[in-house]
Amino acid sequence: MIVLVSLIVIFIIYNRLIYSSESYYPSIALSPKAIKGQNLWQSNNCWSCHQIYGLGGYLGPDLTNIYSHPNKGPDYINTFLNSGIKSMPYFNFTEVEKEAIIEYLKVIDQSGFYPNYEADIEATGWVKIKYKDE
Ligand code: HEC
Repeated sequence: MIVLVSLIVIFIIYNRLIYSSESYYPSIALSPKAIKGQNLWQSNNCWSCHQIYGLGGYLGPDLTNIYSHPNKGPDYINTFLNSGIKSMPYFNFTEVEKEAIIEYLKVIDQSGFYPNYEADIEATGWVKIKYKDE
């Protein structure tokens, strides 16, 4: 009986701690240009071969942080869009469309790191990961 009661008490305290503690949700508003890029990303099925935060198809590489990659970045991304590479098809994007896709990948890059190994497990059970704006 005493075990059951203490389990219930611990359960209640733990839940109070978790659901009343402040958690951090980054929010990034997409500009109209980035939204255009996101639409192009979706309508051209980039996600069927590429991942963002590890989610997507696995024929091509993850593009979460390609924008800020020391050897890659906007010009590098630009190169592949209309030329293709290996099994990546070539597209016929206009300059405006290419800029929009690059803008979208820039915003994705600003939202965090992937893979993110800098994670701390807090006493409450939340996992705190490192964000770009910290
Ligand atoms: C049919 C599969 C496929 C589709 C669809 C596709 N890609 Fe790719 N992509 C690839 C492959 C494969 C590579 C080359 C990987 C390598 O170099 O080994 C690649 C490479 C890239 C690279 C260079 C990545 C790097 O780190 O070197 C970028 C940027 C890129 N793709 C962007 C896009 C965008 C944006 C779209 C949508 C407009 C797209 N891809 C659609 C398969 C695809």
